[in-house]
Amino acid sequence: MARKKIIAGNWKMNMTPSEAVKLVEELKPLVATEDADVVFCVPAIDIIPAMEAAKGSNIEIGAENMYFEEKGAFTGEISPAMLTDVGVKYVVLGHSERREYFAETSETVNKKMLKAFEHGLTPIMCCGETLEQREQGVTMDFIRQQVKVGFLNVTAAQAAISVIAYEPIWAIGTGKTATTAQAQEVCKAIRECIAEIYDEATAAAIRIQYGGSVNAATAPELFVQPDIDGGLVGGAALKPDFGKIVNWK
Ligand code: 13P
Repeated sequence: MARKKIIAGNWKMNMTPSEAVKLVEELKPLVATEDADVVFCVPAIDIIPAMEAAKGSNIEIGAENMYFEEKGAFTGEISPAMLTDVGVKYVVLGHSERREYFAETSETVNKKMLKAFEHGLTPIMCCGETLEQREQGVTMDFIRQQVKVGFLNVTAAQAAISVIAYEPIWAIGTGKTATTAQAQEVCKAIRECIAEIYDEATAAAIRIQYGGSVNAATAPELFVQPDIDGGLVGGAALKPDFGKIVNWK
């Protein structure tokens, strides 16, 4: 069965709750499609107002992070039950900005993955190399490690419904999109890694996004690649351009 595309916005630390409502209202008619799952991953405080504003549309509201414990003395964190209680289905885990600025590791990402599945949340697990790693030729070794550790003890059935976002760090927010060949090559290798860990059926089912300076001009050539099942979009997800990205065909 053909994989349905999943095109997600990652708002990062942008948009106050009132701005979030306005943006959802503005984008709602522009992102209408049945061809792709459309997800807006928003700051925690924006989740409820964004969800209200998205009512009746095809937009799913997702989270940008969550903690791996159920509840308790973890000041400032958001639990998986808090997300599911308000109807969140998707959660971004292990974004490179969280790895870089908030000391996330593949091990903590793995704990979050397991906890997300326990609560029926679909993770969008991010991976990607630095420019130095690409130049040293260790891109795939590094990403395979991120994927292998991230999916430790995740079952094949859980992996099959997961989303992986390949985001080369050097392409994030830099205006420097990876070439379609580079993006396809790594997404294909990630799928092969999933086949090695699990089996061909799981690899054929899992959805792999590309992220990093995706815009309306680059989306069509990226999304047509056989192993790229959509995108995780930062800057361009905050603009009407996102409608063009979603309706890339
Ligand atoms: P940009 O699209 O702004 O490069 O951000 C990509 C990203 O980090 C999405 O998670």
